[in-house]
Amino acid sequence: MTKKGRAIKISKRFEVSQRVKILRYEIRELVPLAKSIEKKGEKIFWLNIGDPLKYDFKTPEHILEALYYASRENYNYYSDSQGLLELREAIVKKEKRVNNIDLSPDDIIITAGVSEGINFLMASLLEKNRELLIPSPTYPLYKNFIRFYGGEPKYYRLIENNNRWSIDLSSIEEKINDRTLGIVIINPNNPTGALFSKEDILKVGEIAKEHDLIIISDEIYDRIIYDKSFYSTASLIKDVPIVGLNGFSKTYLVTGWRLGYVYFSNFENDKLKDAFLKLARNRLCVSTPFQKALADTINKSDKHIFEMVYKLKRRRDFALKMIEENEDIECALPEGAFYLFPRIKVKGDWKNDTEFCRKLLIEEKVVIVSGSGFYMYDQNHFRTVFLPTEDYIQEAFTRIFKFIKRHKKESSK
Ligand SMILES: Cc1ncc(COP(=O)(O)O)c(C=O)c1O
Repeated sequence: MTKKGRAIKISKRFEVSQRVKILRYEIRELVPLAKSIEKKGEKIFWLNIGDPLKYDFKTPEHILEALYYASRENYNYYSDSQGLLELREAIVKKEKRVNNIDLSPDDIIITAGVSEGINFLMASLLEKNRELLIPSPTYPLYKNFIRFYGGEPKYYRLIENNNRWSIDLSSIEEKINDRTLGIVIINPNNPTGALFSKEDILKVGEIAKEHDLIIISDEIYDRIIYDKSFYSTASLIKDVPIVGLNGFSKTYLVTGWRLGYVYFSNFENDKLKDAFLKLARNRLCVSTPFQKALADTINKSDKHIFEMVYKLKRRRDFALKMIEENEDIECALPEGAFYLFPRIKVKGDWKNDTEFCRKLLIEEKVVIVSGSGFYMYDQNHFRTVFLPTEDYIQEAFTRIFKFIKRHKKESSK
């Protein structure tokens, strides 16, 4: 349609590619419906997107100032495709200081968010008859890009036991065959909030070594942790090639700046890194002033991170307490990130979890994401953020509980 709404007939040849048709991003799927309800004057409770800046978290002042100075100092040119050297040097320091990983600036490539890192990595690795093991539930971009480039995602299970999620190691071993290239770990995990134990990570390392696989470790929530210590994969495993993915969106409160990085650890040669760099060159570079601002600040002050984690922990505990007091749902303790992945214990008149979320939005005006949006192997989960204030959580959760109570089948307990 043109702007004036005049339809121009388009040849049938202009069909979009099959490749694109398979892409889905369920986290934002209910947004158009929610927006249309909002337009009619209803208040919507947004619990779907993992963006702290949409709530009461703000980019720290010193980072904003650094951006101003970066652009005043003429950091407005195309930077190196691999990323500004100053930022790669700062990341070397940060990864040593925070995660005890030894890197050199040359091991690192700056990307437009971890999202671009996942895209380029899958583009560099996959084609027909190649498989990657990814968790179920998973962050959807992994599945999307593996398939986009012709490969096959194979799911291993995360299991919920004794109030926590862990990696089902036997499910990893069952899925390995001669087409398998590697294992993806998301730690701290989205959507479950799990923080995987040192033992589990070491065991994944042993499996990878035995079968000659690489490990891809997404650690974007490495600094948003509550009760225990976080162990970065590359700090524990020295005898398996590891691709680390990390970024600034969440911990530096700059989701819209679109900056992340990938590092290559324990690789015998640069084949994969060179392929990745070829893709990076084709998009020239990522935004230079933003890179410079982060280069100047990521090792200066962590105060905002401590404040954010303190605030989030209180909100998590508040949300969990509400769930504990409700008989229809339960939730394992999230030890990192800012998500809850509750399990609905009762059966209801909804067909599946997708319909549950859609009906909830229509009736109670709350936006959450179904477990199947994360390729969860059952239909009983949903994901919500605990980023908003306690009042907001209280109102939204009360609506969710009311909805379940109204629609559950009494015989299902
Ligand atoms: C596990 C995980 N990886 C990657 C991303 C993408 O982050 P970015 O903003 O760096 O593209 C997200 C965003 O929610 C995520 O949860």
